[in-house]
Amino acid sequence: MENTQTNAMPRIGDKAPEFKAVTTQGEINFPADYSGSWVILFSHPADFTPVCTSEFMTFASMEAQFAKANTKLVGLSVDGLYSHIAWLRTIKEKIEYKGMKNVEVNFPLIEDITMSVAGKYGMMMPGESSTKAVRAVFFIDPKGIIRTIIYYPLSLGRNFQELYRVVVGLQTADAFSVALPADWQPGDDVIVPTAGSCGVAKQRMESKEEMKCYDWFFCTKKLDKEKVLSTILKK
Ligand code: BEZ
Repeated sequence: MENTQTNAMPRIGDKAPEFKAVTTQGEINFPADYSGSWVILFSHPADFTPVCTSEFMTFASMEAQFAKANTKLVGLSVDGLYSHIAWLRTIKEKIEYKGMKNVEVNFPLIEDITMSVAGKYGMMMPGESSTKAVRAVFFIDPKGIIRTIIYYPLSLGRNFQELYRVVVGLQTADAFSVALPADWQPGDDVIVPTAGSCGVAKQRMESKEEMKCYDWFFCTKKLDKEKVLSTILKK
């Protein structure tokens, strides 16, 4: 029989699959416990491995930065709780890496020895490994909808500046009803939706808003960095 645990693959726009789990911070009921916040739910292949350690130290060092953008972190691997606890203690007590030391991981790390959560989220990719989750990253909005998914293989650590850019970008696109061009960063021009009707086109021509159009389907406008950051980041 086909192993559906490894094959289920939630998609962008789906409701985040529900689960209850034991974590290093107690039990969680996902995504209900996170209603009203953005969440990054991510998997790592295994405790006590080097790439994962570098990632956890980076994530933990950026936790406050993500929190300011109303974003909580939840990690997962198919290891057990005592392994998680021992690994996080080792990180705090022993590892100094790239200027990070004494790093405490305060966000929950899910134990998933049965692979039930990993299965629901398509984190097991047998072609890569049948015993370890790949590096999956799910960005889930305050209503529990999956908004972005990024997967990395076992051998490549994630780019955390990009993960943060995704959080800020999704929130900016929502708050200002715009789309964001390649490599967008706060302060860069944003894309205004193509006018779908004469009414919208007329309104746009009459508005004082300055736009730059590269063609009829590709127009941008300025969006102040301060306006973006003051809308998205908590005071
Ligand atoms: C690592 O995090 O270093 C790692 C984990 C599993 C396989 C390969 C590398």
